[in-house]
Amino acid sequence: MRWLALVLAFVFMAFAEELKLAEVCDQEKCKLPDCKCSTTDIPGGFLPHRVPQFVLLTFDDGVTVSNHPTYQTLLYGRKNFNNCPVGATFFVSHEYTNYQLVNDLYTQGFEIAMHSISHVNQTYFMEADKERLMEEIGDQKTLTSNFAAIPAAAIQGLRMPFLQMAGNASFEMMKTAGFRYDISMPTIKFQSPGLWPYTLDYASDQDCINAPCPTASFPGLWAVPMIAWEDLEGFPCAMVDACFSPPGDADEEGWFRFIVKNFEKQYLGNRAPFGFYIHEGPVRTRPGLQAALIRFLNMINTMNDVYLVNVSEMLDWVEKPIPLEDYVKAPCRATVPARRCRPTNCGPLSSTHTQESFWMASCTSCPRVYPWVGNPLGR
Ligand SMILES: *[C@@H]1O[C@H](CO)[C@@H](O)[C@H](O)[C@H]1NC(C)=O
Ligand SMILES: *[C@@H]1O[C@H](CO)[C@@H](O)[C@H](O)[C@H]1NC(C)=O
Ligand SMILES: *[C@@H]1O[C@H](CO)[C@@H](O)[C@H](O)[C@H]1NC(C)=O
Ligand SMILES: [Zn+2]
Repeated sequence: MRWLALVLAFVFMAFAEELKLAEVCDQEKCKLPDCKCSTTDIPGGFLPHRVPQFVLLTFDDGVTVSNHPTYQTLLYGRKNFNNCPVGATFFVSHEYTNYQLVNDLYTQGFEIAMHSISHVNQTYFMEADKERLMEEIGDQKTLTSNFAAIPAAAIQGLRMPFLQMAGNASFEMMKTAGFRYDISMPTIKFQSPGLWPYTLDYASDQDCINAPCPTASFPGLWAVPMIAWEDLEGFPCAMVDACFSPPGDADEEGWFRFIVKNFEKQYLGNRAPFGFYIHEGPVRTRPGLQAALIRFLNMINTMNDVYLVNVSEMLDWVEKPIPLEDYVKAPCRATVPARRCRPTNCGPLSSTHTQESFWMASCTSCPRVYPWVGNPLGR
């Protein structure tokens, strides 16, 4: 009897693990809030002028004392037209990250999301299987929630390093580790009208830029397409700082027009979320870009139909779309508070991946060694 139970358990496990190839999306079966086909249709069937234009401002990589002041300047105290605080999303990688500052960003109402522990190189992520991604990104949630003292449940999203997809693997990891959305896949094909976020219950029509892309069915997991910008020569770019022909570093007017032109592709179109995806470095070091970004944010914050929000807040709307006139009046989103940060500067901590030792600012007690892949709590 024992062996039978064992065999059955094995069969069951194999069955549960098996991935089903995603089928062509059936609009009749795939309905909000849980399911959405990969289309340019506006959720809820509204006309464009009846829905909020969401703007997603995101920053990638480590959060440190050198980049945090820029975030403060750009975002702290800023409000949307409805008087609710603006949102922004941080895709944090672990190395050199200061977890007291992560706690601070979260406490200010910004969204914290994952971008891997090691961020090592593109081949490594392209070839990653589910287990590797569990260690890199699944465990990073444990790490971040612990040292930044923020609720694990507030960590819902991820962006793959280098926007490098790993086929089905990252989505298998997302299912196990309890993630809600991926925002790593650029689209060049669906710029205008833009591709709205969709779930992976069914096969996606999105173009695959950094193969391998997922082809299995992952019910309920969201993909937020990174709608490409067009640079001054018409070349597509998914990250603003990766545009090949941008305006000059000091050219504020040029940058402002460049941003507005790309924004209007969505705003005057089907109002798919407009992404401003960038790293902090280029914002700090290109005065024209920084001034133009501030001017753009100031402009949209006075518009009654444009909202600078977290990725997760945008998804809440997509799941349960309401018309603009109701959205404007809705109460501001409440944040699940962080645990209290008890600032400790930990170090020197020896590391397993380099000869270096590290200092790490934490909100809780110090780890024994520098946390890393396979040892996220640094025990
Ligand atoms: C993803 O899963 C589907 C369904 O099992 C499979 O056909 C496909 O080859 C997988 N993709 C990769 C890159 O392994
Ligand atoms: C990528 O990183 C892995 C793991 O550290 C390493 O083994 C590999 O040599 C690196 N590949 C490249 C191309 O740098
Ligand atoms: C941003 O996201 C976090 C985590 O999901 C949430 O708690 C917070 O309220 C959001 N802030 C805004 C301004 O939407
Ligand atoms: Zn990165």
